[in-house]
Amino acid sequence: KPLKEAYKGKFLVGTILGVAALQGKSRQDTELATTHFSAITPENSLKPEAVQPREGEFRFAEGDKLVELCKSCGATAIGHTLLWHAQTGRWMFEGKEGKPLDRELALKRMRTHIGTVVGHYKGKIAQWDVVNEAINDGPGTLRPSPWLKAVGDDFIAEAFRAAHEADPKATLIYNDYNIELNYKRPKAVELVKGLLAQKVPIHAVGIQCHWRMDNPNFTEVEEAIKEYAALGLKVMITELDLGVLPTKYQGADISFRQQMTPEQQAVMNPYTKELPDAVAQAHAERYRLAFEMFLRHQKTIGRVTFWGTHDGSSWLDNFPIRGRTDYPLLFDRQGKTKPAFFAVQNAT
Ligand code: XIL
Repeated sequence: KPLKEAYKGKFLVGTILGVAALQGKSRQDTELATTHFSAITPENSLKPEAVQPREGEFRFAEGDKLVELCKSCGATAIGHTLLWHAQTGRWMFEGKEGKPLDRELALKRMRTHIGTVVGHYKGKIAQWDVVNEAINDGPGTLRPSPWLKAVGDDFIAEAFRAAHEADPKATLIYNDYNIELNYKRPKAVELVKGLLAQKVPIHAVGIQCHWRMDNPNFTEVEEAIKEYAALGLKVMITELDLGVLPTKYQGADISFRQQMTPEQQAVMNPYTKELPDAVAQAHAERYRLAFEMFLRHQKTIGRVTFWGTHDGSSWLDNFPIRGRTDYPLLFDRQGKTKPAFFAVQNAT
Protein backbone atom coordinates (compact mmCIF):
# COMPACT_ATOMS: atom_id res chain seq x y z
CA LYS A 1 0.00 0.00 0.00
CA PRO A 2 1.44 3.42 -0.93
CA LEU A 3 2.69 5.44 2.00
CA LYS A 4 0.58 8.40 0.98
CA GLU A 5 -2.59 6.33 1.48
CA ALA A 6 -1.61 5.57 5.06
CA TYR A 7 -1.30 9.28 5.83
CA LYS A 8 -4.28 10.56 3.89
CA GLY A 9 -6.17 13.13 5.95
CA LYS A 10 -3.27 13.39 8.41
CA PHE A 11 -0.39 15.20 6.75
CA LEU A 12 1.43 15.16 3.44
CA VAL A 13 4.28 12.66 3.22
CA GLY A 14 6.98 13.90 0.91
CA THR A 15 10.27 13.03 -0.68
CA ILE A 16 12.81 14.71 -2.94
CA LEU A 17 13.94 14.23 -6.51
CA GLY A 18 17.53 14.94 -7.50
CA VAL A 19 18.79 16.64 -10.63
CA ALA A 20 19.24 13.32 -12.47
CA ALA A 21 15.67 12.25 -11.79
CA LEU A 22 14.28 15.60 -12.92
CA GLN A 23 16.28 15.27 -16.11
CA GLY A 24 14.57 11.94 -16.70
CA LYS A 25 17.68 9.93 -15.86
CA SER A 26 16.57 8.01 -12.80
CA ARG A 27 13.44 5.99 -13.35
CA GLN A 28 13.76 4.22 -10.00
CA ASP A 29 13.66 7.45 -7.97
CA THR A 30 10.82 8.90 -10.00
CA GLU A 31 8.78 5.71 -9.79
CA LEU A 32 9.11 5.45 -6.01
CA ALA A 33 8.42 9.16 -5.52
CA THR A 34 5.26 9.24 -7.61
CA THR A 35 3.92 5.98 -6.15
CA HIS A 36 4.41 6.58 -2.46
CA PHE A 37 4.52 10.31 -1.76
CA SER A 38 2.00 13.14 -1.69
CA ALA A 39 4.59 15.94 -1.87
CA ILE A 40 7.84 16.27 -3.82
CA THR A 41 10.68 18.74 -3.28
CA PRO A 42 13.51 19.21 -5.80
CA GLU A 43 16.75 18.32 -4.01
CA ASN A 44 18.90 20.91 -5.80
CA SER A 45 17.11 22.21 -8.90
CA LEU A 46 15.42 25.25 -7.39
CA LYS A 47 18.36 26.48 -5.33
CA PRO A 48 19.64 29.92 -6.36
CA GLU A 49 22.78 28.68 -8.14
CA ALA A 50 20.70 26.22 -10.17
CA VAL A 51 17.84 28.47 -11.11
CA GLN A 52 19.79 31.71 -11.69
CA PRO A 53 23.47 30.78 -12.19
CA ARG A 54 24.24 34.15 -13.77
CA GLU A 55 22.37 37.40 -13.45
CA GLY A 56 19.19 37.32 -15.51
CA GLU A 57 19.76 33.74 -16.72
CA PHE A 58 16.88 31.69 -15.35
CA ARG A 59 16.66 27.92 -15.72
CA PHE A 60 13.29 26.39 -15.09
CA ALA A 61 13.44 23.09 -16.99
CA GLU A 62 13.89 20.82 -13.94
CA GLY A 63 11.45 22.77 -11.80
CA ASP A 64 8.90 22.60 -14.61
CA LYS A 65 9.45 18.84 -14.78
CA LEU A 66 8.79 18.60 -11.05
CA VAL A 67 5.50 20.45 -11.44
CA GLU A 68 4.50 18.17 -14.31
CA LEU A 69 5.35 15.01 -12.35
CA CYS A 70 3.45 16.26 -9.32
CA LYS A 71 0.43 16.98 -11.46
CA SER A 72 0.52 13.50 -12.96
CA CYS A 73 0.48 11.74 -9.57
CA GLY A 74 -1.50 14.24 -7.53
CA ALA A 75 1.41 15.31 -5.33
CA THR A 76 1.96 18.80 -3.96
CA ALA A 77 5.02 20.54 -5.43
CA ILE A 78 7.35 22.10 -2.88
CA GLY A 79 9.92 24.82 -3.58
CA HIS A 80 13.37 24.72 -1.99
CA THR A 81 14.87 27.29 -1.54
CA LEU A 82 14.76 31.00 -2.42
CA LEU A 83 17.42 32.54 -0.19
CA TRP A 84 20.45 30.79 1.31
CA HIS A 85 24.12 31.43 2.06
CA ALA A 86 25.07 28.18 0.27
CA GLN A 87 24.51 26.96 -3.30
CA THR A 88 24.10 30.54 -4.45
CA GLY A 89 26.11 32.22 -7.21
CA ARG A 90 28.52 34.62 -5.54
CA TRP A 91 27.50 37.30 -8.04
CA MET A 92 24.14 37.53 -6.30
CA PHE A 93 25.22 38.65 -2.88
CA GLU A 94 28.92 39.45 -2.78
CA GLY A 95 30.54 42.82 -3.37
CA LYS A 96 33.97 43.55 -4.81
CA GLU A 97 37.06 42.33 -2.95
CA GLY A 98 35.00 40.55 -0.33
CA LYS A 99 33.23 43.75 0.73
CA PRO A 100 29.51 43.45 1.45
CA LEU A 101 27.32 44.28 -1.49
CA ASP A 102 25.52 47.63 -1.42
CA ARG A 103 22.19 47.20 0.42
CA GLU A 104 19.97 48.52 -2.34
CA LEU A 105 21.65 46.37 -4.96
CA ALA A 106 21.40 43.27 -2.76
CA LEU A 107 17.71 43.96 -2.15
CA LYS A 108 17.11 44.49 -5.84
CA ARG A 109 18.76 41.18 -6.73
CA MET A 110 16.87 39.40 -3.97
CA ARG A 111 13.52 40.79 -5.10
CA THR A 112 14.20 40.04 -8.74
CA HIS A 113 15.21 36.47 -7.93
CA ILE A 114 12.33 35.72 -5.60
CA GLY A 115 9.76 37.56 -7.70
CA THR A 116 10.80 35.81 -10.90
CA VAL A 117 11.00 32.31 -9.44
CA VAL A 118 7.87 32.43 -7.30
CA GLY A 119 6.07 34.25 -10.09
CA HIS A 120 7.01 31.56 -12.61
CA TYR A 121 5.50 28.91 -10.33
CA LYS A 122 2.51 30.92 -9.11
CA GLY A 123 -0.35 28.53 -8.40
CA LYS A 124 1.90 25.56 -9.21
CA ILE A 125 4.30 25.36 -6.28
CA ALA A 126 2.21 25.42 -3.15
CA GLN A 127 4.86 25.82 -0.46
CA TRP A 128 8.21 27.60 -0.46
CA ASP A 129 11.21 27.38 1.83
CA VAL A 130 11.73 31.12 1.55
CA VAL A 131 14.81 31.50 3.72
CA ASN A 132 17.11 28.58 4.54
CA GLU A 133 19.48 28.26 7.51
CA ALA A 134 19.73 31.91 8.54
CA ILE A 135 20.18 31.24 12.27
CA ASN A 136 23.67 31.06 13.71
CA ASP A 137 24.93 27.96 15.51
CA GLY A 138 27.33 30.07 17.53
CA PRO A 139 26.74 33.30 19.45
CA GLY A 140 24.20 35.77 18.12
CA THR A 141 20.88 35.10 16.46
CA LEU A 142 21.66 35.39 12.77
CA ARG A 143 24.43 33.73 10.80
CA PRO A 144 26.92 36.29 9.43
CA SER A 145 25.97 35.41 5.85
CA PRO A 146 26.51 37.62 2.80
CA TRP A 147 22.80 38.46 2.86
CA LEU A 148 22.97 39.65 6.45
CA LYS A 149 26.12 41.65 5.77
CA ALA A 150 24.74 43.34 2.68
CA VAL A 151 21.14 43.95 3.68
CA GLY A 152 21.05 43.83 7.48
CA ASP A 153 18.65 42.10 9.88
CA ASP A 154 15.56 42.74 7.77
CA PHE A 155 16.72 40.57 4.85
CA ILE A 156 14.50 37.75 6.07
CA ALA A 157 11.40 39.94 6.34
CA GLU A 158 12.09 41.38 2.90
CA ALA A 159 12.43 37.91 1.37
CA PHE A 160 9.06 36.79 2.76
CA ARG A 161 7.39 39.98 1.56
CA ALA A 162 8.76 39.48 -1.95
CA ALA A 163 7.57 35.85 -2.05
CA HIS A 164 4.12 36.77 -0.78
CA GLU A 165 3.78 39.51 -3.34
CA ALA A 166 4.64 37.10 -6.16
CA ASP A 167 2.18 34.42 -5.00
CA PRO A 168 -0.19 35.50 -2.21
CA LYS A 169 -1.62 31.96 -1.89
CA ALA A 170 1.67 30.11 -1.38
CA THR A 171 2.56 28.75 2.06
CA LEU A 172 5.79 30.45 3.13
CA ILE A 173 8.25 28.59 5.34
CA TYR A 174 11.31 29.54 7.36
CA ASN A 175 13.54 26.42 7.12
CA ASP A 176 16.51 25.48 9.29
CA TYR A 177 18.31 22.61 11.01
CA ASN A 178 18.53 21.98 14.75
CA ILE A 179 15.81 24.51 15.56
CA GLU A 180 14.09 21.59 17.31
CA LEU A 181 17.04 21.50 19.73
CA ASN A 182 17.28 23.55 22.91
CA TYR A 183 20.43 25.37 21.85
CA LYS A 184 18.86 26.86 18.73
CA ARG A 185 15.13 26.87 19.40
CA PRO A 186 15.05 30.14 21.39
CA LYS A 187 16.73 31.93 18.50
CA ALA A 188 14.18 30.61 16.02
CA VAL A 189 11.33 31.56 18.33
CA GLU A 190 12.74 35.06 18.72
CA LEU A 191 13.15 35.41 14.96
CA VAL A 192 9.65 34.18 14.17
CA LYS A 193 8.03 36.31 16.89
CA GLY A 194 9.76 39.36 15.47
CA LEU A 195 8.47 38.58 11.99
CA LEU A 196 4.93 38.00 13.22
CA ALA A 197 5.01 41.24 15.22
CA GLN A 198 5.83 43.09 12.00
CA LYS A 199 3.05 41.25 10.16
CA VAL A 200 5.52 39.56 7.83
CA PRO A 201 3.74 36.85 5.77
CA ILE A 202 5.27 33.71 7.30
CA HIS A 203 3.09 30.62 7.66
CA ALA A 204 5.26 27.77 8.84
CA VAL A 205 8.48 26.74 10.45
CA GLY A 206 10.38 24.06 8.55
CA ILE A 207 12.47 21.77 10.72
CA GLN A 208 14.95 19.86 8.59
CA CYS A 209 15.40 16.85 10.92
CA HIS A 210 18.63 15.30 9.71
CA TRP A 211 18.65 12.91 12.65
CA ARG A 212 20.62 9.95 13.92
CA MET A 213 19.95 6.94 16.09
CA ASP A 214 21.11 8.53 19.34
CA ASN A 215 20.31 12.13 18.60
CA PRO A 216 18.12 14.09 19.16
CA ASN A 217 16.00 13.28 22.15
CA PHE A 218 12.36 13.19 21.01
CA THR A 219 11.08 14.81 24.19
CA GLU A 220 13.07 17.87 23.24
CA VAL A 221 11.72 17.75 19.68
CA GLU A 222 8.13 17.49 20.88
CA GLU A 223 8.54 20.57 23.09
CA ALA A 224 9.76 22.48 20.05
CA ILE A 225 6.79 21.40 17.92
CA LYS A 226 4.45 22.59 20.67
CA GLU A 227 6.20 25.92 21.01
CA TYR A 228 6.02 26.65 17.26
CA ALA A 229 2.37 25.62 17.23
CA ALA A 230 1.70 28.03 20.10
CA LEU A 231 3.00 30.86 17.92
CA GLY A 232 0.16 30.05 15.53
CA LEU A 233 2.38 28.53 12.86
CA LYS A 234 2.32 25.25 11.02
CA VAL A 235 5.32 22.99 11.37
CA MET A 236 6.75 21.23 8.32
CA ILE A 237 9.24 18.43 8.71
CA THR A 238 11.22 19.24 5.60
CA GLU A 239 14.32 17.03 5.29
CA LEU A 240 13.91 13.97 7.47
CA ASP A 241 16.51 11.24 7.44
CA LEU A 242 17.87 8.99 10.14
CA GLY A 243 21.51 8.07 9.80
CA VAL A 244 22.40 4.74 11.39
CA LEU A 245 26.12 5.20 11.90
CA PRO A 246 27.20 5.70 15.50
CA THR A 247 27.99 9.33 16.30
CA LYS A 248 31.72 8.70 16.38
CA TYR A 249 31.55 7.84 12.66
CA GLN A 250 29.58 10.97 11.78
CA GLY A 251 30.27 14.64 11.34
CA ALA A 252 32.95 15.84 13.71
CA ASP A 253 36.63 16.11 12.83
CA ILE A 254 36.05 16.34 9.10
CA SER A 255 39.46 17.87 8.38
CA PHE A 256 41.21 15.01 10.10
CA ARG A 257 39.16 12.42 8.28
CA GLN A 258 39.74 13.87 4.86
CA GLN A 259 43.42 13.07 5.31
CA MET A 260 42.69 9.40 5.90
CA THR A 261 43.42 6.74 3.31
CA PRO A 262 40.45 4.87 1.80
CA GLU A 263 41.38 1.88 3.95
CA GLN A 264 41.26 3.98 7.09
CA GLN A 265 37.99 5.53 5.99
CA ALA A 266 36.44 2.11 5.45
CA VAL A 267 37.06 1.36 9.12
CA MET A 268 35.10 4.49 9.98
CA ASN A 269 32.08 2.99 8.23
CA PRO A 270 31.18 -0.28 9.91
CA TYR A 271 28.41 -1.18 7.45
CA THR A 272 29.98 -1.21 4.03
CA LYS A 273 27.70 -3.82 2.51
CA GLU A 274 24.39 -4.75 4.03
CA LEU A 275 22.88 -3.26 7.10
CA PRO A 276 22.89 -5.82 9.95
CA ASP A 277 19.35 -6.89 10.77
CA ALA A 278 19.52 -5.68 14.35
CA VAL A 279 20.51 -2.21 13.16
CA ALA A 280 17.72 -2.18 10.56
CA GLN A 281 15.22 -3.11 13.28
CA ALA A 282 16.43 -0.42 15.67
CA HIS A 283 16.31 2.08 12.80
CA ALA A 284 12.70 1.09 12.10
CA GLU A 285 11.78 1.42 15.76
CA ARG A 286 13.16 4.95 15.94
CA TYR A 287 11.22 5.90 12.80
CA ARG A 288 8.09 4.45 14.42
CA LEU A 289 8.60 6.64 17.50
CA ALA A 290 9.18 9.69 15.31
CA PHE A 291 5.97 9.16 13.34
CA GLU A 292 3.95 8.44 16.48
CA MET A 293 5.12 11.83 17.69
CA PHE A 294 4.27 13.51 14.37
CA LEU A 295 0.82 11.93 14.45
CA ARG A 296 0.21 13.29 17.96
CA HIS A 297 0.70 16.74 16.41
CA GLN A 298 -1.09 16.22 13.12
CA LYS A 299 -3.08 19.44 13.64
CA THR A 300 0.21 21.34 13.63
CA ILE A 301 2.24 19.35 11.16
CA GLY A 302 1.32 19.96 7.54
CA ARG A 303 3.93 17.74 5.91
CA VAL A 304 6.69 15.29 6.66
CA THR A 305 9.24 15.10 3.85
CA PHE A 306 12.08 12.59 3.69
CA TRP A 307 15.38 13.83 2.28
CA GLY A 308 15.53 10.97 -0.19
CA THR A 309 13.70 7.78 -0.99
CA HIS A 310 16.29 5.01 -1.24
CA ASP A 311 19.69 4.78 0.42
CA GLY A 312 21.53 4.82 -2.89
CA SER A 313 20.61 8.43 -3.61
CA SER A 314 20.93 9.84 -0.09
CA TRP A 315 23.15 12.92 0.32
CA LEU A 316 24.62 11.19 3.39
CA ASP A 317 26.55 8.89 1.08
CA ASN A 318 29.80 10.81 0.73
CA PHE A 319 28.85 13.44 3.29
CA PRO A 320 30.68 14.68 5.25
CA ILE A 321 33.32 12.13 4.35
CA ARG A 322 33.95 10.99 0.81
CA GLY A 323 33.43 7.28 0.33
CA ARG A 324 31.40 6.92 3.50
CA THR A 325 27.93 5.44 3.08
CA ASP A 326 24.86 5.57 5.31
CA TYR A 327 21.47 3.87 5.46
CA PRO A 328 19.06 6.62 6.49
CA LEU A 329 15.93 6.05 4.38
CA LEU A 330 12.92 3.75 3.94
CA PHE A 331 14.07 1.91 0.80
CA ASP A 332 17.39 0.14 0.23
CA ARG A 333 19.78 0.57 -2.67
CA GLN A 334 17.76 -1.89 -4.76
CA GLY A 335 14.63 0.14 -4.12
CA LYS A 336 13.19 -2.51 -1.80
CA THR A 337 11.31 -1.61 1.35
CA LYS A 338 13.29 -1.74 4.59
CA PRO A 339 11.83 -2.44 8.04
CA ALA A 340 11.69 1.35 8.48
CA PHE A 341 9.15 1.56 5.65
CA PHE A 342 6.70 -0.70 7.46
CA ALA A 343 7.30 1.07 10.76
CA VAL A 344 6.33 4.37 9.17
CA GLN A 345 3.43 2.86 7.23
CA ASN A 346 1.96 1.29 10.37
CA ALA A 347 2.65 4.01 12.93
CA THR A 348 -0.48 5.12 14.76
C1 XIL B 1 21.93 18.91 -0.01
C2 XIL B 1 21.70 17.98 -1.20
O1 XIL B 1 21.03 16.83 -0.75
C3 XIL B 1 23.01 17.63 -1.87
O2 XIL B 1 22.77 16.92 -3.08
C4 XIL B 1 23.80 18.89 -2.17
O3 XIL B 1 25.08 18.53 -2.66
C5 XIL B 1 23.97 19.74 -0.93
O4 XIL B 1 22.69 20.03 -0.40
N1 XIL B 1 20.08 21.22 4.14
C6 XIL B 1 19.38 21.66 3.05
C7 XIL B 1 19.47 20.92 1.76
O5 XIL B 1 18.58 22.61 3.17
O6 XIL B 1 19.33 21.78 0.66
C8 XIL B 1 20.74 20.14 1.67
O7 XIL B 1 20.70 19.35 0.48
C9 XIL B 1 20.93 19.28 2.89
C10 XIL B 1 21.03 20.13 4.13
